Amino acid sequence: MAKITFIQPDGSTQVVEATPGTTVMEAAKLNGVPGIEAECGGACACATCHVYVSDDWREQVGAPSEMEEDMLDFAFDVRESSRLSCQIKVTDALDGLVLSVPAKQF
Ligand code: FES
Repeated sequence: MAKITFIQPDGSTQVVEATPGTTVMEAAKLNGVPGIEAECGGACACATCHVYVSDDWREQVGAPSEMEEDMLDFAFDVRESSRLSCQIKVTDALDGLVLSVPAKQF
C-alpha cells in the first residue's frame, strides 16, 4: 500500500491508502477526496482529475504523456507540476506522495 496525502485549497489534508496497480484518481474517488471529479472515469478524456504534484515528488512521479499534456490544456490553472491523477499509476515507490487539489476543476 502507498499512503498518498491530498492537500485541499484551504490547507486541510487527507491521507488515503492506495493499492499498487490502481491509479491515484481511483484512490481519491474510493476515499471521497473532495475536488477530484474524474468525470470520464479515468480515460484521460476530461481533465477533471487534475492535481499538482509537490516539488519533492515531481521527479519520482514523472512527466505527463503527450496525450495527457493535450488534455491538461482543458484544465483550470495548469502549472509545471500539473498531472491528471488518473494517469498516475500507484506503486510502492509512491508511498508518501503529496498532491494538491486545485481550487476548481474547470
Ligand atoms: Fe478524466 Fe482523468 S478521470 S482525465
